[in-house]
Amino acid sequence: MFATLFTVIGALSVASWLYENLRNSVVLLIHRFKVSREDSLVQKYGPWAVITGGSDGIGKAYAHYLAQKGMKVLLVARNAAKLSNVAQEITEKYGVECRFAVADFSKGEQIFPQLEQELAPFDIGILVNNVGVISEKPILLERMEKSLLWNLINVNVGAATLLCNIVIPQMKRNKRGLIVNISSMAAFSPTPYLNVYAATKAYITSFSHALHEELKPYGIECQTVSPGFVHTSMTEYLAPTEGSQTPLSRRLLKVNDFIRYAGYTLGKVSTTCGHWSHGIQVAILKMLPETLRLRIFTRLYTELLSEFSNSS
Ligand SMILES: NC(=O)c1ccc[n+]([C@@H]2O[C@H](COP(=O)([O-])OP(=O)(O)OC[C@H]3O[C@@H](n4cnc5c(N)ncnc54)[C@H](OP(=O)(O)O)[C@@H]3O)[C@@H](O)[C@H]2O)c1
Repeated sequence: MFATLFTVIGALSVASWLYENLRNSVVLLIHRFKVSREDSLVQKYGPWAVITGGSDGIGKAYAHYLAQKGMKVLLVARNAAKLSNVAQEITEKYGVECRFAVADFSKGEQIFPQLEQELAPFDIGILVNNVGVISEKPILLERMEKSLLWNLINVNVGAATLLCNIVIPQMKRNKRGLIVNISSMAAFSPTPYLNVYAATKAYITSFSHALHEELKPYGIECQTVSPGFVHTSMTEYLAPTEGSQTPLSRRLLKVNDFIRYAGYTLGKVSTTCGHWSHGIQVAILKMLPETLRLRIFTRLYTELLSEFSNSS
């Protein structure tokens, strides 16, 4: 009796794990071997792509990828000079129009009326909600400046939420569109010493999954991307320094490798880690009970906390 019960529970758990972790790989493989021509991103979603935090790191990589696919690109970030350089680089390289809007999402509610006006003339096909900030290094909650806590909430949670609210009516009128929400592998487990960052990413994952279902009947797609460590200015503190390599620094993925896979998944799957190697890490994490995951993250970040407390 008990043996049968355990066999059934075991079989169901394995089947559910396989479905959850292999479904996307199978869909992507089918696309790779498809003989019929697929619509371009412009035909499928519309001419313009808006990318928040598009002047650096992962956002800049999306901007290059989408411009290479023929989309016109509109970048949003704080630094006008940096935005202008990236826009010029993209236009020269791919021959597509590239504009930018200056906005500081950390200022919260007050910036959105103007941003909404600036976005209104554009026929937006793809919105990449990429902008995100993190504490410079792992840190105890009570040591964090209150301004940093508001930044984390306004930038990581506020920007994506408000921008979806702004662009969805236009996408619904056009009966097309793709929203890409950049979450993080940190969303899969509470993360001590990066607790607010991880919680903001858990918000994005939950928000994005729900939005995917809500928008489906209107022909609009919503993709959730949950990367692991990618080498950008956000993770520079983990990068190997001369003569020192840690297990984490060895695992930092180059942003070009990340976007090659993440870009390929656009319009094909609704959830992804972006890169296959991060997909494997998440599949392993999902085999473990949540309490054990929390213990692993606690250990990892306790080590990082003590490493950076000693070095500063
Ligand atoms: N790197 C990773 O390992 C990793 C892993 C998982 C998830 N992610 C997520 O991926 C996204 C991109 O991360 P990244 O590593 O590419 O970051 P990044 O290299 O630090 O780039 C951040 C971008 O956001 C802009 N930005 C920062 N604060 C802003 C603000 N207040 N208002 C407007 N724009 C602002 C920056 O430009 P300005 O400074 O000029 O404004 C820059 O363009 C984030 O959501 C992050 O949480 C990253």
